[in-house]
Order: sequence, then structure tokens, then C-alpha cells
Amino acid sequence: MLITQTISHGQDPLQLILIKVLRPVDVHSRKNLIEERTTDAARTAAGENSNFLYVLTYGERHTMNNAIPALADFFTQGHRDCDETWVEVENAIEANDASVIQSNWGLFNRMLRHHLKIEEEVMFPKLEAETGMTAGPTMVMRMEHDQMRGLLDQMAISQANGDFQDMLNLGDTLLMLIQQHNQKEEGMLYPLAQQALHSYWPQLKDQIDATQNVEV
Ligand SMILES: [Fe+2]
Ligand SMILES: [Fe+2]
Repeated sequence: MLITQTISHGQDPLQLILIKVLRPVDVHSRKNLIEERTTDAARTAAGENSNFLYVLTYGERHTMNNAIPALADFFTQGHRDCDETWVEVENAIEANDASVIQSNWGLFNRMLRHHLKIEEEVMFPKLEAETGMTAGPTMVMRMEHDQMRGLLDQMAISQANGDFQDMLNLGDTLLMLIQQHNQKEEGMLYPLAQQALHSYWPQLKDQIDATQNVEV
């Protein structure tokens, strides 16, 4: 591993590391057609039951293929899944359907928290151990995760109170935060982790799979 230090002079440490270490990795280059077909089949099978849909698409996506997705692809797909599910929450709010809002919100809340959890508890610790960086990008990412969870907590209260407009307002703030956060992860941190953790990824992926039913 080529990382020797993390420098902070008011610049984003992620950018510095990018300059120092990375060879370009196209995280979108391995789009998997089987995965898309599987997801479509799961959507059809799941019908209206969005909780089942999540379990089915998530499980199928990662068991149907012989080769596991690359680290960067796997976590990037997590971002896309959360984005799509938030749109379903917004749609339900627009339709003013409280029960669909509740189920879509429950799904979104769980998906996003689970994504943050597997980064913090599986991927980041290994990356920190491999690179020796504990006060750099992963620390920034963890702080942003805390901000996201704070917004999710507030949104859960709004949802429970039936204040859906407040949910949307908080959701706008959350989405802005997520967008900036995901750009940093997809553009820098994931390619870095993919390189640094290449030989550990199958083992890390098993650890992630074991967290599917864990409370988040
Ligand atoms: Fe993250
Ligand atoms: Fe992420």
C-alpha cells in the first residue's frame, strides 16, 4: 500500500490521498446484466410488498452470481438502492397514502442505516487497519454518517406524527448531505478501498451478508 501519511492543510484529505495513491478505477464499468434481470424478476415476484422486495432483491442479487460484485460496485449499488427507495417515499407522500408512506419509509430507514453500518463496522475498520489511516477520510465519513442518522431520527418523529411535509423538508436536507457524501465515497474512497482490500473482499462480503437480518 502506498499511503504513507494523511495531510490536512484545510484541503479535503480524500483529495490528497487520491493524488498520492489511486490509479483510476471505473466503478461503473462492471455493470452486471444478470443482476439487473434478477432484480426485475424479484420486483415482479414481490409485487406490493416492499419489505419482501428488499430482502429478495438484496439476497438474490448477491447469491445468483458466481462472482461477487467488486467492492466499489457493491457499495455504489447500495447508494442507488437507497436513492430509489427515497423516491418511493416521496411518491407515497405525494399520493398522501399513510400506510404506503409508513412501509416505504421503514424500508428506506433500514436500508440507509444498514449501508452506514456495514461501511462503519466492516469496510472502514479493515481499510483503516490496512492503510494505518484512522484520522483521515473514514473519520470524515463517520461524522457525516452521524449527521445522516440524526436526520433519520428527526424524520422518524415526523413520520410518526403524520407530519409528512416536515419529512420532505428534512429529506431534502438529508439528500443534499447524501449526495455530497456519496460523491466522495464513489469518486475516491471506494476505489481506494477496492485496491487496498482486494484480497480481503470475499471475506468482508461474507461478514456483510451475515448482517442482513441484524437490527440497525
Ligand atoms: Fe458512507
Ligand atoms: Fe456509502
